[in-house]
Amino acid sequence: MALIKDILRTMDYGPSPESSEHVLSWLERHKAGFGLFINGRFTNPGALFDVFNPATGERIAGATQGSPADIDAAVTAARRAQPKWAALSGYGRAKHLYALARHVQKRERFLAVLETIDNGKPIRESRDIDVPLVARHFYHHAGWASLVDSEFPGTRPVGVCGQIIPWNFPLLMLAWKIAPALAAGNSVVLKPAEYTPLTALAFAEICVEAGLPAGVVNIVTGDGATGAALVAHAGVDKIAFTGSTEVGRAIRKATAGTGKKLSLELGGKSPFVVFDDADLDSAVEGVVDAIWFNQGQVCCAGSRLLAAEGIADAMYAKLRARMAKLRAGDPLDKSTDVGAIVAPVQLERIERLMREGAAEGLDFWRADDVLPNRGCFYPPTLVTGVEPASILAREEIFGPVLVASTFRTPDEAVALANNTRYGLAASVWTENVNRAFEVAARLKAGVVWINSTNLFDAASGFGGYRESGFGREGGREGLIEYRAPDAPKGKPYPPAAAPLIASPGLTPSQESAGGLDRTAKLYVGGKQTRPDSGYSYAVLDPRGNEVGLAGLGNPKDVRNAVEAAAKASSWGAATAHNRAQVLYYVAENLSARAGEFARRLRTMTGASARAAEAEVETSVRRAFFYAGFADKFDGAIHATRSRFVTLAMNEPWGIMGIVCPNEAPLLSLVSLVMPAVAMGNCVVVVPSSLHPLSATDFYSILDTSDVPAGVVNIVTGETNALAATLAEHDGVDALWYVGDHPGAAKVEALSAGNLKATWLTTTQPDWSRAEGREFLSRAVQVKNIWTPYGE
Ligand code: NAI
Ligand code: MG
Repeated sequence: MALIKDILRTMDYGPSPESSEHVLSWLERHKAGFGLFINGRFTNPGALFDVFNPATGERIAGATQGSPADIDAAVTAARRAQPKWAALSGYGRAKHLYALARHVQKRERFLAVLETIDNGKPIRESRDIDVPLVARHFYHHAGWASLVDSEFPGTRPVGVCGQIIPWNFPLLMLAWKIAPALAAGNSVVLKPAEYTPLTALAFAEICVEAGLPAGVVNIVTGDGATGAALVAHAGVDKIAFTGSTEVGRAIRKATAGTGKKLSLELGGKSPFVVFDDADLDSAVEGVVDAIWFNQGQVCCAGSRLLAAEGIADAMYAKLRARMAKLRAGDPLDKSTDVGAIVAPVQLERIERLMREGAAEGLDFWRADDVLPNRGCFYPPTLVTGVEPASILAREEIFGPVLVASTFRTPDEAVALANNTRYGLAASVWTENVNRAFEVAARLKAGVVWINSTNLFDAASGFGGYRESGFGREGGREGLIEYRAPDAPKGKPYPPAAAPLIASPGLTPSQESAGGLDRTAKLYVGGKQTRPDSGYSYAVLDPRGNEVGLAGLGNPKDVRNAVEAAAKASSWGAATAHNRAQVLYYVAENLSARAGEFARRLRTMTGASARAAEAEVETSVRRAFFYAGFADKFDGAIHATRSRFVTLAMNEPWGIMGIVCPNEAPLLSLVSLVMPAVAMGNCVVVVPSSLHPLSATDFYSILDTSDVPAGVVNIVTGETNALAATLAEHDGVDALWYVGDHPGAAKVEALSAGNLKATWLTTTQPDWSRAEGREFLSRAVQVKNIWTPYGE
C-alpha cells in the first residue's frame, strides 16, 4: 500500500477517470450500428464502417457509409425544408438555435465524454473547451438569426449548404458550420469525419429532442467518397469545408463553374514568435497550449517556435522542464495533458515525417515519460535548430511536435514567420506593445494572438490567408459566408467575342519606320510598355471601322505586371488618408478631361453623346465615392472574451487581378479598380478587350494623379486568356472576374493552385449602381488580432 509520505514525496497523481457509464450505455443501445440522419429521422443502418477509441484501439461503434443515393436523399430533404426555414421569422429561427444551445448544455458532460472516447482528446479539453464553445456558438448565432435580415440588407440565404468537417474538433467544427448556416436561413447536409462521427450523431438526436423542423439539419456519415458525393451534388448551393489543403484544392476544382459558393478552412504551419523581452514563463505555458493542445492536431497549432537568439537557450531549457511534467495517457483521466492521436493512419503520418526529419540530422528531444502500451500515442517532442527548408518546418505535422529555430531581428522574425505557404494563425510574445502590433500587422495570418494562443470565440472570425483557405467562420465576417446577394437581375454575359486578330503588320520595327505610333501600349510599373508579343490588335467601332490599336498582351506581360505590383506593396501601408487623396486626384483629373473621355467612348462603342457623358460623369462620382470610403471602411472590435480586445482589421489582399467586361468600358473599370486600390491593394487589370481605349487613355490620368508606379497595371488583350494567366499566378492573392460563364469557370478551376479568393460576376450588373460596401469587403480579408489586457 502506498504510504502518504511516499505520495507526498513524489506528488504523483492517482488515476482520476471521468465516468463513461452513460456514454457506454448509449453505445450499447446503438450496438446494431448507427443509421444516417435524414429529414428528421434516422435511417436503418446500412453498410457499416468501424469506429474506434484511439486510446484503446477498441471498436466502439459502427456507422453507415453514406452512398451517393443517401446524399441525394439528404439534399432533397434539405431542399424541401429550406424555404420554410428561411420563411420563419428571424425570431423563430433564433428560438430554435437557442433551444439547440440549451440542449447541448444539458448534455455537456455526455458530449464531452463521447468526444473524448471517439477522438482521444483529454477530457479536460473536451469538457472545458470544445463543448462549452459549442454551446457558445449556438447562443451567439441565435442572436444573429434575429438580426441577419436587418444587419445584412440586400442579401438572402444561400440555400442548401453541404458541410464537411474534420476529426480534430468534431463537435466544435459541427457547431462552427451548422450554427451560422441555420441562423442565416439555410438548411444543411453535414458530413462528419470518418474517424469521429459519434458526436454528430448525438447532435442529430439533440435536433430531434429540441424540436428542430425535419430536414433543416441532415447528417450523413461516411468517408471521403461520401464527402465527394456531397460536393458534386447539383442541389447544393454552398460547400463549407475544413480539412487538409489537398482536399480543399480538390473541392475548389470540383466546384469550379458550378455556381456553388465555397469557403475553405485548411491547414497551417503557424509561427509562435518569442522576442527577447517576452515573459518567458508565460510563453512556455503558451507553447503548451499552442502545440500540445489536442496532441497538436490543430489547424492553427503554433507548430513553429521562432525564438530570439538571446533567449532561445533559456526558453528551450524551460520548455524541456515543462515537457517533463506533461502527463500523457488515458484521455478520460482528468489529469491527463496529452491524449491519443486520432487514428493509426495519422500516427503513421507523424512518424513518417519525423523519420524524414531524422534523416536530415535534426535534434529531437523528448521527456522520458512512458506512453501507454496500447492505443495510438505520440510523445510531445521538441526539435531545435530547424532550418526553414527542413521538411519539418514546411509540412503540417499535425502532431505534438514543436520545431524551433532562432532569429536575430524583428525583420528576420517576420520574414521567417511568413516563410510558409500557409497563413492561418500566429502568436507573438513580447512585453513591448509597439513591437507586438507592428509584428501583428506584418504577419500574413488570419488570426494573431498577442501574448496568448489558441483562443476562439463565436464573435470573432477565424480563417486563413493564402493556402490556409478563404472565408471566415464566426462573427459578422463568418455569417456573410452563408448569405448570397439578392437574386441578380441582369442578363448572363454573352460568350466572349471571337478571338482578337493580331496585326502582324504592326511589329515595332515597322511602326517606328512609319513614324507615327498609334498603338496603345500596356501600362506596367507606371510606364507604357510594349507587349511582349510585339503584336497589336485592331480596336473596331460598332460598324467595324478601326478606331485604334491596342497591345496584345500575353502571359509574360501579366507576369511582368504582377512583379511590378509586388514592388509597389508599400501602397498597402500608406495611410488611408493618403490613398484617399490620390483617388480624389484621379477623380479630379478625369473630370477635367471628361469631354475627351466621352468622345472616345462614343467613337469606340457607338454610345450616344448623352450616354457617353453619363458614363464619364458616373465614373468621376465613383472615384470620389471610393476616395471618400478609403478611410472609413474600418474594422471592428469584437466582443469576445473578458480581458481581451479582439481587433478585426480589414487588410488588403495584396495583389489583385481584375478582369473587366466589355460593357461600360470606362465605368466598369473605375468601379472595380477604385475600391480595390482604396483598400490598399495593387492591381493588375485586364480591361474590356473590345473597347480597351478608355483604359489606355486612363494611363495618363494615373500618371498625373500621383498614383505610385505599380499600383495600377493594365494589360490589354484577350480577356479570358489573360484571366486564366492571372488565375494561375501564385503571386496573385485575389481575383475579380466579370464576364462569361466559361471564363468564370476557368478562373475558379485555375485559382486552385494557391487557393486565391475569387469573386465572379457572370450576369450584367447595372453599372450605374454598382458601388458600395460589398466591393470594399471583397477587396479585403479580415485579420483578427487578440490582445490581452490587465496583468
Ligand atoms: P481530409 O482533408 O482528408 O479530411 C477532412 C474531411 O474531408 C473528412 O470529413 C473527409 O472524409 C473529407 N474528405 C476527404 N476527401 C474528400 C473529398 N475528396 N471530397 C470531399 N470530402 C473529402 O484530412 P485527413 O486525411 O483526415 O488528414 C490529413 C491531414 O490533413 C492531416 O494530417 C492534417 O495535416 C490535415 N488536416 C487539417 C485539418 C484542419 O483543421 N485544417 C483537419 C484535418 C486534417
Ligand atoms: Mg474514433
